[in-house]
Amino acid sequence: RRCALVTGVSSGIGEAIALRLLEDGWQVIGMSRRAPSLQHTNLSFVAADLADNASLASALADIPALDAIVHAAGFMRTAPLGELRDEDGAAMWQVHVSAATQLVNGLLGRLRAPGRIVLVGSRTMNGAAGRSQYAATKAALIGLVRSWAIELAPRGITVNLVAPGATETPMLIDPARQGTPPRQPPIGRFIQPREVAAMTAFLLGSDAGAITGQQLVICGGASL
Ligand code: NAI
Repeated sequence: RRCALVTGVSSGIGEAIALRLLEDGWQVIGMSRRAPSLQHTNLSFVAADLADNASLASALADIPALDAIVHAAGFMRTAPLGELRDEDGAAMWQVHVSAATQLVNGLLGRLRAPGRIVLVGSRTMNGAAGRSQYAATKAALIGLVRSWAIELAPRGITVNLVAPGATETPMLIDPARQGTPPRQPPIGRFIQPREVAAMTAFLLGSDAGAITGQQLVICGGASL
């Protein structure tokens, strides 16, 4: 049975990815701050605060050999320029970028070929008013994905980014997210977490071995 580590598994997109992989027959190790409500015989859970290097380091010690790493944990804090809080930018940088690096760097020796790495970015990486810090952390993931794809191709490991637009998860209605309310994409509805999960499952599958270093945007036409 192939085994994937999925972060952010207690909610939204990470939970949907875990569910899809379980349906596809994977063994899933979920990692989040909170235990998932999702229950399955092939799902185990490791608690970690990805904003805290030491917490993540000790969680990594318990992870067995893997076939895939999916980093979906994340959050959004918004504020217009002039009102940014340094700690919000630092926390998003830590959870989105530094934790991704710590995960892949720390687990590479346990990632079997043909291995798969998927990071969850965002359509917002291209820039959005009031979301500069969030956008910057998600844009930084492109640098990781492209560099790691080059570095890991000779080892049979692919690295890709899925970039969702407005997806119907608790994050979309988070009261800590200020500013403009989420707008539906041109397709006339919000993107569903299972749609992001389906793309992720494809990238983790055997038919996607030639796709690496790419950004797959799932935005319902919002980025056109
Ligand atoms: P969500 O709020 O439903 O779930 C976020 C998950 O990340 C939860 O499982 C939470 O426990 C985990 N998490 C957050 N901070 C953590 C920390 N410090 N340590 C450990 N776990 C932590 O959000 P959603 O919408 O599922 O977001 C998942 C990813 O998708 C995020 O990276 C987000 O930036 C990205 N995204 C979401 C979009 C949306 O419209 N919902 C659009 C584009 C990207």
